[in-house]
Amino acid sequence: MIILGINDTHDASACLIKDGKLIIAVQEERFRRVKQIGSFPKESIKNIFKFTGYSSKDIDRVAVACKIMTGSLLHNVVADFKIDDWRKLHEVYFYNLIYRKKNISFKKVFKNFKPSIKLGYPLKGIKIDSNTATTHSVHLKIKKFRKKHISKFLKIDQNKIDFYDHHHCHGMYGYFAFSKLLKNKKKVAIVTSDGGGDNRCNSISLVNNLNLKSFPTKTISLIGKIYETATLLLGMNPAKHVYKIMGLAPYASEHHKAGPRKIFLDSFKVRGVNFYRNKKMIDYFVYFKKKLNIHRFDGIAGGVQDFVEILLSKWFNNISKKLNTKNFVFSGGVANNVKANKILIENENVDNFYVPPGPGDESLSIGAAYASLVNLVGFKKTSEIADIPKNAYWGIPIDQNNFLRFKKHPIIKKYYKAIKDKKFKLTSHYLAKGEIIFFCKGRMEFGQRALGHRSILCDPSNIQSIYKINSAIKKRDFWMPFTPSILDSFKNKYFKNPKKINCDFMTISFDTTDLGKKHLKAAIHPYDNTVRPQVVTKKTCVDYFNLINEFKKITGIGALLNTSLNVHDKPIICQPTDLIDELINNKNTAANFIYIEDTLFTKKTSILNKNILRI
Ligand SMILES: [Fe+2]
Repeated sequence: MIILGINDTHDASACLIKDGKLIIAVQEERFRRVKQIGSFPKESIKNIFKFTGYSSKDIDRVAVACKIMTGSLLHNVVADFKIDDWRKLHEVYFYNLIYRKKNISFKKVFKNFKPSIKLGYPLKGIKIDSNTATTHSVHLKIKKFRKKHISKFLKIDQNKIDFYDHHHCHGMYGYFAFSKLLKNKKKVAIVTSDGGGDNRCNSISLVNNLNLKSFPTKTISLIGKIYETATLLLGMNPAKHVYKIMGLAPYASEHHKAGPRKIFLDSFKVRGVNFYRNKKMIDYFVYFKKKLNIHRFDGIAGGVQDFVEILLSKWFNNISKKLNTKNFVFSGGVANNVKANKILIENENVDNFYVPPGPGDESLSIGAAYASLVNLVGFKKTSEIADIPKNAYWGIPIDQNNFLRFKKHPIIKKYYKAIKDKKFKLTSHYLAKGEIIFFCKGRMEFGQRALGHRSILCDPSNIQSIYKINSAIKKRDFWMPFTPSILDSFKNKYFKNPKKINCDFMTISFDTTDLGKKHLKAAIHPYDNTVRPQVVTKKTCVDYFNLINEFKKITGIGALLNTSLNVHDKPIICQPTDLIDELINNKNTAANFIYIEDTLFTKKTSILNKNILRI
């Protein structure tokens, strides 16, 4: 039984599962080189067929996430809207609609908007519009259009294509990503929360003795929406930069965040397992803009983060009591809030807590594929056969022809020396000397976090690394922390995890130990000293494990600082030539050491010490 999973909303992706095993999962942004690109993931599907050798003829079912899609999503607004567009959406479009009761045309407000590149779906006949203005018949028309296009592209009968609810997909992905670990747990609550999908922002299900029961959502959680609004009010892109609020929040003093926290808490509450909004909050943006206008930026960040932590804690407590379980799977965009996850694992009503890699919309394709399997063979049978490899390296490998093109590229030939370093002796030596390595090996990781296959690596104890990476490569905001990959044998030495919560994917924060603060100085939050680790075992990531282990032999430090291999606002590198186009050829980045597959490319000594390669 082969199922092709598709997500054609923003963060488009596709995957293939065979008899319950996830064979491959890829994100469209990696191929199209536009972060969070939406629409039909044509390139992902082509790459899946290339990797697996299967074709459309082999596909038994096609599972598509999201029953409802809007014209604006199909026009790729999430990836392409700039901060000014988001502001206009609230200050002009929604303001007229909500406050003035004036039906204003979305197309008119955004008359100059067009997608940055050609999208997977043809847009002819698809009106750019918001969900608010989209009628049921338009929803049906769009669904028909999607089905027709998918069927045509795959040359597959329309009867083989099904659509699955957005939050059901989030939940199924979260659960089956850990089903092997969850099999022996009698009761597991599956909780989802995000900015919205299929007219819901949250869901609760219970797996009781391998029987799935979903509870109808009576009210809508605005936790994700309010967090996005605060991001925009602070002058950042609500679709791309919500995580920056989390990094900024610890700097706020109680004095500065108390006011904003009260404003957020007064606007929205949890009662039981349901949510209630203050009737005075008729929209988000204008309402909070007025209320927060005398408050400091850091106070707003701290206040909204506190609000999320307080509400989620109450909600999880109440879910635990209602469903009589302390085992949780948490999925959906809000599960990306690693600091809130830290508060949740400290909760006395939480014993086990699992957040999968890439819990946001990028993983909807995987959720859809498993939802389809559940539909076909039942939840129990799916739990028996579900097999998602426990390392998130579910993407495509390095293309050997592309690697050859990289090696033969004039810049590489002229400026770099290639040395085979299969056992990482030389690479670890340079890392120990304080150098930064662009590391590219094996199958690409799935989700927003680089997990050691497309990463920028350096010594986590060397604070200078942060300045080097920020000034020469990443241009990250000064308040944003870096993260480490830690050898399994060092995890208890570096951070406190008494409940032994799964921490393989950088999805949860922990307090550090004194040794952690010392050895991971550059890879923890500099203000509150928390860490968002990836724990690396030999079993799941052998090469990456070996590299960190070699570094440990020289330095005594069982970890590396690991940040994603990309430039600011671009997707993680997919193939070696992307490195040339986006990093090496970029006059603002320094790439002195590049490791690909088994070869270390070092910049020739004469120019090695120059920070910036000017060609
Ligand atoms: Fe979502």
